[in-house]
Formats: sequence, C-alpha cells, structure tokens
Amino acid sequence: MSNDTAKNQNQLDPIMQIEQLSVSFPGQGKKRNFAVNNVNLTIYPRQTLAVVGESGSGKSVSAMSILQIIPTPPGKYEHGKILWQPDPNVPVENLLDYNEKQMQTVRGNQIAMIFQEPMTSLNPVYTIGEQIIEAVRLHRTVDRAQSIEIAIKALSDVGIADPASRLKEYPHQLSGGMRQRVMIAMALACEPKLLLADEPTTALDVTIQAQILELLRHLQDTQDMSIMLITHDLGVVAENADVVAVMYAGRVLEFATVENIFERPLHPYTRGLLKSMPVLGQSVHRLPTVVDGATIPEDFPAGYHVEPHVTTPDPEIGYGGKDARLYEVEPEHWVLCTPASGNPIQPSQPGLRYRRVMAR
Ligand SMILES: Nc1ncnc2c1ncn2[C@@H]1O[C@H](COP(=O)(O)OP(=O)(O)OP(=O)(O)O)[C@@H](O)[C@H]1O
Ligand SMILES: [Mg+2]
Repeated sequence: MSNDTAKNQNQLDPIMQIEQLSVSFPGQGKKRNFAVNNVNLTIYPRQTLAVVGESGSGKSVSAMSILQIIPTPPGKYEHGKILWQPDPNVPVENLLDYNEKQMQTVRGNQIAMIFQEPMTSLNPVYTIGEQIIEAVRLHRTVDRAQSIEIAIKALSDVGIADPASRLKEYPHQLSGGMRQRVMIAMALACEPKLLLADEPTTALDVTIQAQILELLRHLQDTQDMSIMLITHDLGVVAENADVVAVMYAGRVLEFATVENIFERPLHPYTRGLLKSMPVLGQSVHRLPTVVDGATIPEDFPAGYHVEPHVTTPDPEIGYGGKDARLYEVEPEHWVLCTPASGNPIQPSQPGLRYRRVMAR
C-alpha cells in the first residue's frame, strides 16, 4: 500500500471514540451514582453525532468529561477511554491519560464547547471583544489586527448586527440569545476539530436557530469540523444529525443513523420518545419523560432480549440489567440488550462512518 493510500484510509478513522466511560458522583451513604455508565460513542470527521435523552440522562456530563471539566471531587472518572485523533498523522491518544497542562492544549483549541448556560463561559469583567480576541490569539498564530478581524467576522457569522461596536460591550449588556451567539462565535473563531454543542440553540428564536445550524453545517465542510450535538429537539436532530445516540440513566440505549432512529427505532425507550414527539412547529424545552412499559417491537431481532422501559433503574445494576451491553442487532444498528442463550455475538463499539447527503 502506498503512503498516500494509507493516509487516506487513516482519515476515515474516527476523530473520537469513547469506550466504556463511567463517571460517578457521591450518592447516599458510601454509594456513588453513575451519571455516565459504560458509555460508548464514536464520531467520524465532519460528522454530526446527535445525543438525545431526557433531563438527567448524562448528556452534559459525557460532553464535559471529554474536556475533563467535571469538578473532581465530587465527580470521579471511574474508568473508560476517550480516544482522540484530530489528525490522521498523529497517533491516537487517550484524553483521560492527559494531565491538566496537556488538556489545556486541547480545550478551546482542538475541542471547543458551547455550554447550556452561556454565562458560565463568558467573563463578566471583560468586554466581548477582549474575550474573543484573547481566545483567538491563544489558539491561532495571528496578530492583534487579524484577531480583531476574525472576531468581527465570527460575530457577523452568528447573525450579530454591527459586530464592530458589539465588541466593546460587556456580557451583561447583551440579551440571553445574544450571549449564546457570542459564545458560539468564540468557540468557532478558534477553528476546533470537534465542537461539543450542548443545547446550542435552545435560547434562540427559530430564525436565528436555523441560521446557526446552517453555519455549523457549513463549517463542518470548510473547517473539517465534527459536532457532538446535544439537544432535546427531535426536529433539530432530524434535520442536522448523521448518527444518533439515545441516552437514558447514564447509558447509551440505541445508536444508529438518523434515518434508522426515526424509521426503525428498536429500543422501547426510543419508541416511547418518538411517540411523544411534539407536532412540528411546537417548541418544547425538555424531552417528555417516557412512561414505563413502552412497547418492544414485534419484529425485534431474534436472538436478543431487550428490557421494557422502566423509569426507575435498579440502583445496584443500573439500567437494562447488569449484562446489558450494546450489540449490533441489525446491520449498523446498536441496541442495549442481552443476547439470548446460545447466541455467540459479542458486544461492539457503536460507530458509523455515515454522513447523509444534505441539500445545501
Ligand atoms: N456536579 C455534580 N454533582 C452531583 N451530581 C451531578 C453533578 N453534575 C451532574 N450530576 C448528576 O449527573 C446526572 C446527569 O447529569 P447531566 O447534567 O449530564 O444530565 P443531562 O442529560 O445533561 O440533562 P439536561 O437535559 O437537564 O441538561 C444527573 O443525575 C445529575 O444530577
Ligand atoms: Mg445537560
């Protein structure tokens, strides 16, 4: 194989692979609650992985673990790997092996995060301009004049009018939606390889939301950026995701292409979630809680047991039973379940190189 072929093939490798990640917080007595429980996720270059699930399912903790910004204590990274390969020419590394100094070279630079609550990532005592310019100069080799230009362009890209004068304002002078956009501009100005977008457009009106999602799609191609899109909005998932992971009680229950998730949901929880999907155009701020006993599809692949959905996972064994793992029960379709006795299949890492064709 020539070097070129090797390189091209490498580029088809995942940019990030999370393997058996568990993160806990103190629970009652000496027990610990697993906010993230043996999570497996894969993201390929330029791909959008949507992570959906109701409040408390572990979406934000999963994303924050990638950047190691969970406060420890009380949190604890119990085990797992976060394999990271931003460039096919560098070796794969486990971010959980990185020390704080090494993580600083990753945060904001290779991997940026848009937080659910914009005020947490904006400093109230500096102007918007100072903050974006500092972020840009920290992560890119540009002079001050260039960094101002980049900041102005970034603000204008996220739909902020008169960006040059906005640069002189402080966060408290902006509306919530405006702050959210400033944070997005700041994250994107650093040209990350992976963007962790935690409910990025929740605070925004529909027009701006569409504009920002369109901008993100554009940057995926022009900047080679992958996106982990955390959202409660199944409409946003349907329109923007390539692959989808459904989470509940700290576990990934189902992983498949966006088409398979919507057209052939297999896990009872996912089916319940889609059944409760609001009518198009109605906005909701949280995914509804799925009631117990949601149906198991009659044609669920033979050779596996999937548990009916229960809203109170057993605290000792977690959700789905202690032997439940992600199995590829149909081609390109993973479900948290247990194989029937005699079925020799092994659990496997969910991940698909798939990117849908979008009308752009
Ligand atoms: N600092 C913390 N200390 C203790 N428990 C925490 C902490 N952060 C998160 N948790 C717990 O971890 C679990 C997962 O929380 P997480 O924030 O990841 O949920 P989420 O899926 O992002 O929910 P939402 O949709 O409401 O944002 C929750 O039970 C939460 O209470
Ligand atoms: Mg969250």
